[in-house]
Amino acid sequence: MSRNFPDQFLWGAASSGPQMEGAGSLNGKAQNVWDYWFEKEPETFYQQIGPEETSGFYHHYKEDIVLMKEIGFNSFRTSISWTRLIPDGLQVNEEAVSFYRDVFKELNDKGIKPIINLYHFDMPVRLHKQGGWENRETAEEFSRYAKIAFTRFGDLVDEWVTFNEPIVPIEMGYLNDKHLPAVYDLKRAFQAGFHTMLAHAKAVKAFKKSGHSGKIGIILNLMPSYPRSSDEKNDQDAAFYADLLFNRSFLDPAVKGAYPAELVEFMKQEGITLSFTGEDLEIIRANKIDFLGVNYYQPRRVQAGDPLGSGLDKYFQPYQWPEAKINPHRGWEIYEKGIYDIAITIRDHYSNIPWFIAENGMGVEGEERFEDEKGIIQDDYRIDFMSDHLGWLHKAIEERSNCYGYHVWTFIDNWSWLNEYKNRYGLVRLDLASGKRYKKKSADWFNALASSNQLTD
Ligand code: NOJ
Repeated sequence: MSRNFPDQFLWGAASSGPQMEGAGSLNGKAQNVWDYWFEKEPETFYQQIGPEETSGFYHHYKEDIVLMKEIGFNSFRTSISWTRLIPDGLQVNEEAVSFYRDVFKELNDKGIKPIINLYHFDMPVRLHKQGGWENRETAEEFSRYAKIAFTRFGDLVDEWVTFNEPIVPIEMGYLNDKHLPAVYDLKRAFQAGFHTMLAHAKAVKAFKKSGHSGKIGIILNLMPSYPRSSDEKNDQDAAFYADLLFNRSFLDPAVKGAYPAELVEFMKQEGITLSFTGEDLEIIRANKIDFLGVNYYQPRRVQAGDPLGSGLDKYFQPYQWPEAKINPHRGWEIYEKGIYDIAITIRDHYSNIPWFIAENGMGVEGEERFEDEKGIIQDDYRIDFMSDHLGWLHKAIEERSNCYGYHVWTFIDNWSWLNEYKNRYGLVRLDLASGKRYKKKSADWFNALASSNQLTD
């Protein structure tokens, strides 16, 4: 069976500055939290591989963009590194301007649309030391940074993203100890989350005022929440709260310009009072996004909360669905229909806003074992993963969901926060020792898909 995708559909990959550029202290770049954390505690990082050890896009972007073209991309989404562009928060780094301008030109020349994100977990250390997103001033600084990016690159980029997965630094930093500041504090989590959305809205406002003709959006990692049982009220409530806290707390203000009333109620219940002004709410209300990017990997399965539990346990607890199909190489659930459920939710509850898949992909531990005698990784599992998700996405598009692109995570195996290269996601294998790139089987498959704009079984 062959399924056609809409004309002009975007086919590409996603990555981020901190995960692929390298050159962490070159040509004036200042430290972000990851450079800083690695310098202080390298043992926290898997195999002690730091953010310097990436695929080195900073030096290899020309050949990488040629490779992207060979794989059929007409779109590539990545991020600017804040501390490369404005190392001290004041002075623009001209080296960085010419690097990024060159990259964007090179992409445009090859017919690959740059979709450029401003923030991918890479808080400048300078701001981290002043409280990061907990500090209202960070939102001001971010909007200044955004304005500079629009002015310097607005002629080359017409699709902008403010944040990638803004909930992740909040969840990982304030609800468990995976990112700095690594504490558990619900109130601080909410305050940091609010300032993030304020920063987002200020950047959207600046973009609209700048007169650039492009579009601006946000990328959210939406996890559809499924209850253990759809007959049990307590399980359903659990799914409602997981969705409210982890999806709608960013989705609603971004698309609808307002926080859900139930979230305000939740904060009251938890005795959380935030500091904000009426003007902040007005900025959020008046600056909605033009498009939405969605990262989808896996769903969230939950069961009734524990009334005696602490923190969020009271509202919902994780649930292992016995029928779940688990990625044997990574441990995450694979649930292809989740992509369809998200698409239909956007269609029915978020005004069918134009959206695209900003990340979807399969991580594999120890992927070298799938190498054939010619040295090519036979990643049929990744092809099946993408194909199955795309099948459901196609169905949603046929049912009028307004999706206009698909970006696989990722182009070349890349550095991934505390996990580094433990799970490989690329269509292209990176030999870490030599820096050489080798296309995996999935790269050819992707090329056939993108070039024909058609999914074939
Ligand atoms: C989401 C994040 O945006 C990205 O930085 C991360 O590496 C991938 N998922 C894979 O976990």
